[in-house]
Amino acid sequence: MEFMAKLITCEGIEGSGKSTQILNLATHLRNQGREVIVTREPGGCPIADDIRRILLDPANQQLCPTAELLLYAAARAQHVEEVIRPALAKGAIVLCDRYIDATIAYQGFGRGLDLALIDQLNQVASSGLLPDLTLLFDLPVETGLGRALARNAVALENEGRFEAESLAFHQRVRDGYLQGASQSARFSIIDATGTPEQVSERMTRRVDAFLGAS
Ligand code: TMP
Repeated sequence: MEFMAKLITCEGIEGSGKSTQILNLATHLRNQGREVIVTREPGGCPIADDIRRILLDPANQQLCPTAELLLYAAARAQHVEEVIRPALAKGAIVLCDRYIDATIAYQGFGRGLDLALIDQLNQVASSGLLPDLTLLFDLPVETGLGRALARNAVALENEGRFEAESLAFHQRVRDGYLQGASQSARFSIIDATGTPEQVSERMTRRVDAFLGAS
């Protein structure tokens, strides 16, 4: 049986559980005999991983919002060119943990940078490559941040810069994601409250329906 290449992105606020769910989804799709690549942004290849370290280093508090925006765009350009497009060309399903919608939600709604500029930069960085499906793992900000803080207390990799932002910042990010989802048919909102098993069940049902229909 021939499967079609697809780009599926996962989005959500900190603590939405998307990184766990993306691994569950990869297992689920591989069990169906599909070729699956799991990757993430910022990162996904050595150069973009270097940029990720700059972006998420809590010591870099003085990174100005425009420089931050351009670094996310630079990491994305490298990742799309080096990882995502070649994987799609091979016919794989690419599962990407965050993509263009994260820039709209975090730098646009969170930081307040110009949305038209972000659209332009997203267009350049992705070379126009849009996701086929975007899973938005949605939950209240208080619940997500509670989970993220518990995780960070034991995490080895220091990813605390965004998690240190205010509740209001994360509320704007969530609102930004929900606004984007309300305006585009490629989004599917997954209720991310409850146990990982419950969320996984909701997600696989949606993705199976999408892949069955496409
Ligand atoms: P992660 O928590 O999914 O590993 O993502 C790392 C952080 O990077 C997270 O706080 C969200 C942030 N981010 C942006 O602000 N803009 C972007 O374009 C991307 C891809 C991530």
